[in-house]
Amino acid sequence: MTEQKATNVTWHEHHVSKQDHWQLNGHKGVVLWFTGLSGSGKSTVANTVDHQLHALKKHSYVLDGDNVRMGLNKNLGFSADDRTENIRRIGEVAKLFVDAGTVVSTAFISPYRADRDKVREILQPGEFVEIYVKATVETCEGRDPKGLYKKARAGEIKEFTGISAPYEEPNSPELTLDSDSKDIDTLAGEVIEFLKSKGYLSL
Ligand code: ADX
Repeated sequence: MTEQKATNVTWHEHHVSKQDHWQLNGHKGVVLWFTGLSGSGKSTVANTVDHQLHALKKHSYVLDGDNVRMGLNKNLGFSADDRTENIRRIGEVAKLFVDAGTVVSTAFISPYRADRDKVREILQPGEFVEIYVKATVETCEGRDPKGLYKKARAGEIKEFTGISAPYEEPNSPELTLDSDSKDIDTLAGEVIEFLKSKGYLSL
């Protein structure tokens, strides 16, 4: 390794602030925190919203449960402690995206209220938008896109949310989406309308 010869030198931080990033992008950074049961439609709605934001020329990104669990959080399982750590890390990553001026959608079951509240706490007021994708276990089990409810009922998956592990509904989410009776495009439209009406898509 090359030896550093100079002494008494100071690293200069060329710090581009959060405001600078937002200014350049022309809109605010915000976390759209989708929470709900497996099969409630979190990922699908989040990705549809992301697509629409992109079409509106907004800087956006999706952090998705299954995908993040294959990389950053591959060492975590589904015990209560591991889920808490999963959400803590995602919260920190989402905060970086907000600093960078991005509308970041996160799609994780995030079953514990306290874990979601902790993410809200590390962000500034208004930067955390909790979106409850509400669907009954019956609806999600009826869809069962990955066949996981079937496995959970058969005892092949332990601690499965909604069957053998808890899901704590948000007490006062910014938005509740009725995924039992409305289709994905309608729900995504409700999110976009919310963002427009609250001024998130401009400075
Ligand atoms: S969270 O509870 O820690 O927020 P996360 O959203 O990351 O969960 O991952 C949930 C996804 O992992 C589900 O959509 C499903 O595909 C898969 N999964 C595997 N095992 C379980 C389990 N025991 N409980 C819930 N989801 C599980």
